[in-house]
Amino acid sequence: MNNDTVDLSVTLGKIRLKNPVMPASGTFGYGSEFADFVNLEDLGAIIVKCITLKPRLGSFQNRLAEIPCGSLCSIGLQNVGVDRFIKEKLPYLRQFRTPVIVNVGGESIEEFAKVTEILNKVEGIVGIEINISCPNVKRGGMHFGVDPDATFGVVKSVRNATDLTVIAKLTPNVSDITVFAKACEEAGADAISLINGLVGMAIDINTRKSKLGENLTGGVTGPCLKPIALRMVWQVAQNVNIPVIGVGGITGAGDALEFLIAGATAIEIGTYNLIDPRVTIKTIEGIRKYLMEKRINSLSDIIGSFER
Ligand SMILES: Cc1cc2nc3c(=O)[nH]c(=O)nc-3n(C[C@H](O)[C@H](O)[C@H](O)COP(=O)(O)O)c2cc1C
Repeated sequence: MNNDTVDLSVTLGKIRLKNPVMPASGTFGYGSEFADFVNLEDLGAIIVKCITLKPRLGSFQNRLAEIPCGSLCSIGLQNVGVDRFIKEKLPYLRQFRTPVIVNVGGESIEEFAKVTEILNKVEGIVGIEINISCPNVKRGGMHFGVDPDATFGVVKSVRNATDLTVIAKLTPNVSDITVFAKACEEAGADAISLINGLVGMAIDINTRKSKLGENLTGGVTGPCLKPIALRMVWQVAQNVNIPVIGVGGITGAGDALEFLIAGATAIEIGTYNLIDPRVTIKTIEGIRKYLMEKRINSLSDIIGSFER
């Protein structure tokens, strides 16, 4: 068995990925930031930082606090806005054959739909990942993702605005994640990604203030998130008929394979890109090596193969 005989390809809606590994939104900039470390052609797809209608400056202070086994962050959806994204960032990404997925945010259902409509008209984008799960903005973000009706409303409005593949990204800050996954499927999502950060906090014992400054709370991400993300992916995969993308605490091929076995069709790596910028590539290589060692020809034989 050699490299070429192992089929790592997967399908998400209309998108054919040559392998299941993608960087998670917000941890890989607009792709070019990682080009010195990663051949962008090697990735399954590129998911860019969340894009909103207007540019956003994001949080002003203390955006990131390190915690054991992860990070606590409050970026506040800083981004260049949809017009500048199209003019300044997309041309760079278009030179690669790697599918580009845009993570979209908004403070209202109308904003989600508007940004999607604009992106729908330009070349070089194959999918929209709806961020109804951002844990650190006052309006929009997670507020849509913790109400099943609002979740349905946002996903439906994005669905109506595009024929591109629509992925709904869920927040773990709910009691029964399957209710939200089913709402997304019913609203017409082609796939579901989960999870975004869990809301958390950290206190500086000298100042007795939040380590995230005035933001007070932020999203817990990184390896400490993995068991929760894995459990949720496993639950959701059994309850919907659309592909599930596993995100949360992945540090390499072993973690990624756990998600795939639990039922994920693809995976995203977030915080670990900031620790090892080549983690996506190492993960692809590790998955391939695992399949070769186990003499499995196709990744599809692994997906959802969890045994009780
Ligand atoms: C610095 C940073 C910025 C992020 N920005 C976004 C974002 O713009 N949109 C989004 O949907 N998720 C965003 N996330 C969440 C990640 O995409 C991912 O869902 C989360 O970090 C869990 O994965 P991880 O444990 O591998 O980091 C961000 C995470 C971090 C650490």
